[in-house]
Amino acid sequence: MNQPRTHMPTPSHTYTLEEARAFDAQDPLHSYRSEFMIDNADLIYLDGNSLGRLPLRTRERVSQVVDHEWGSRLIRGWGEGWFTAPQRIGAKIAQLIGAQPDEVIVADSTSVNFFKLVMAALAARAGRPLVVTDDLNFPSDLYLLQGALRLAGAGRRLVRVASPDGIRVPIEALAEAITPETALLTLTHTAFKSGFIYDMPAVTALAHRAGALMLWDLSHSVGAMPLDLNAAGVDLAVGCTYKYLNGGPGAPAFLFVRRGLQAELLNPLWGWFGQKGQFDFSLDYDPGPGLQRFLVGTPPMLSTAAIEPAVELVLEAGLDRLRAKSVAQTEYLIALWEDWLAPLGVALNSPRDSAQRGSHVSLGHPEGLRIDRALIEDMAVIPDFRYPDNIRLGIAPLYTSFADIYEGLSRLRRVLVERLYEKYPVERPEVT
Ligand SMILES: Cc1ncc(COP(=O)(O)O)c(C=O)c1O
Repeated sequence: MNQPRTHMPTPSHTYTLEEARAFDAQDPLHSYRSEFMIDNADLIYLDGNSLGRLPLRTRERVSQVVDHEWGSRLIRGWGEGWFTAPQRIGAKIAQLIGAQPDEVIVADSTSVNFFKLVMAALAARAGRPLVVTDDLNFPSDLYLLQGALRLAGAGRRLVRVASPDGIRVPIEALAEAITPETALLTLTHTAFKSGFIYDMPAVTALAHRAGALMLWDLSHSVGAMPLDLNAAGVDLAVGCTYKYLNGGPGAPAFLFVRRGLQAELLNPLWGWFGQKGQFDFSLDYDPGPGLQRFLVGTPPMLSTAAIEPAVELVLEAGLDRLRAKSVAQTEYLIALWEDWLAPLGVALNSPRDSAQRGSHVSLGHPEGLRIDRALIEDMAVIPDFRYPDNIRLGIAPLYTSFADIYEGLSRLRRVLVERLYEKYPVERPEVT
């Protein structure tokens, strides 16, 4: 991993909790914090990029679905809004990613949607053997690519472009890897460890110049920054709803297919929810129109319904304002790192330039795992740990406050100064 940056003493600025609270007082989005369940004011939650907090509106919506729609309306619920929920909620997510309402649908998990789109893309570019990705990509995507290529048959090959520093991949390295043999270029837009953001229009154009399709994984971007898939000419995308969209644990994901491609692509999983005229119960598969064909089986309605009020909250707050706050907060976090933590041997494992950085920051330390443990168990701070040394701190601009960041980093400093992590074993727990 990269070394800690040399610490440059800055003209002395003393960071204080009062100053952080003053930033909160000036924050136009600060009132959104009260839209979320926060039952422990002392707990500093910096993991909204893994699992977003519970919106209070979601609690109401879910109890309405359980008590009224399921409890009282029973099977009639399917005709009263359940059946169309994947399209309806998809159209709301479309507004967050610069897509048309009929270009996004909610279904399955991110992994399953990714597989469906990869198989569809490979079939649509049958004469081209290569798929290009990078080694910053989320492992589930890499595994699915390996499995999909094996299913797609002999001669297909995955090209994994290496990051030179574990933080970013230069566009030139991608350009070198893409050839007229490339069927598909697929990348995670905001890298899950470093938070590096690709230039979506430039990278998509690169794929298109070679005649390849472009598939983005938006899981760490959606809800944290404006995205414009249509303006960039993106072909395909997937994303999850339980991070910045606060849809709840295991909430279904979404997929995007550019309108002009929809009729050409086929879902490899032929289920009855993708069937044209589903209730004719015809014995032979005929793919439904538009994105319906990318559905497979019955949508999990309780968790699908939970996404809707959460997405509405993000739409209400506005992505430009959310991004502006996220940038101000990651800058603030990095300023604290530079002043307090860099001198203690903590590295910045994320881009320094905010234009290249998403809404999380990874701090590197050889004892990262045990430090994370001490933060969680002794300090009431919840970060993430990502192998080998990343203490990943997520900023969810809808509810993370500047005071959270101040407190989280000052407690981290204490863990390091007092070496509180030393009492924990070095073994990794099952879930990090
Ligand atoms: C970038 C990215 N892609 C895919 C996934 C997998 O999502 P799922 O478990 O919903 O399939 C994740 C999960 O965190 C992720 O961060």
